[in-house]
Amino acid sequence: MLKMLKMAVLVSGGGTNLQAILDAIREGRITNASVEVAISNNPGAYALKRAENCGVKAVCVSPASYKDRELYNEALVQTIQSYQVDLVVLAGCMVVMPKAMIEAYPNRIINIHPALIPSFCGTGFHGLHVHEEVLKRGVKVTGATVHFVDEGTDTGPIILQKAVDVQPDDTPETLQRRVMEQAEWQILPRAIDLIANGKVSVEQSKVVIKE
Ligand code: GRF
Repeated sequence: MLKMLKMAVLVSGGGTNLQAILDAIREGRITNASVEVAISNNPGAYALKRAENCGVKAVCVSPASYKDRELYNEALVQTIQSYQVDLVVLAGCMVVMPKAMIEAYPNRIINIHPALIPSFCGTGFHGLHVHEEVLKRGVKVTGATVHFVDEGTDTGPIILQKAVDVQPDDTPETLQRRVMEQAEWQILPRAIDLIANGKVSVEQSKVVIKE
């Protein structure tokens, strides 16, 4: 019998990916997993409200409360470790994970990126800006990626990806919405369910999924 997967979900904004995870657990599309805590760097993040509405502990660890980034990073790692989780999920999280976090949770931090890595990723590629660049380049297909987090930016082993067609009349907003609905909110819960049920391993930096 597999041990229940305990998660901390890190959020910064609207929390629609957190909501997708909580809905999937409630509807049984994620099994053998629980969200122990939602943690945000942003006290105003609606994601914290979503957590509370679902009876999940919501905690804010704000950089504004710490003298410098070093002290903030320490507080963030200590807060996460205090919940004794097995997996850290970055769901719309704008905070760069400190090295100490990566070392404490090797291949146990996952992130959802709103593009098909290695396209439109890396420093500065987050949120709406990703979709602005997609439209500027004129690609016909974009999508989302769930990957393990390593010390780079969007460079860790890829777990799942899902493609989404770009429509001729898309704006960054309409494209972002469709990528969230048709890709992010599908593959993030699916990746968590696969991990929670022991179907994901990393071999030579490549993810192997045993359905
Ligand atoms: C979305 O663009 C998502 O792709 C990115 O963060 C943004 C907000 O996500 N990861 P959420 O609604 O806070 O989950």
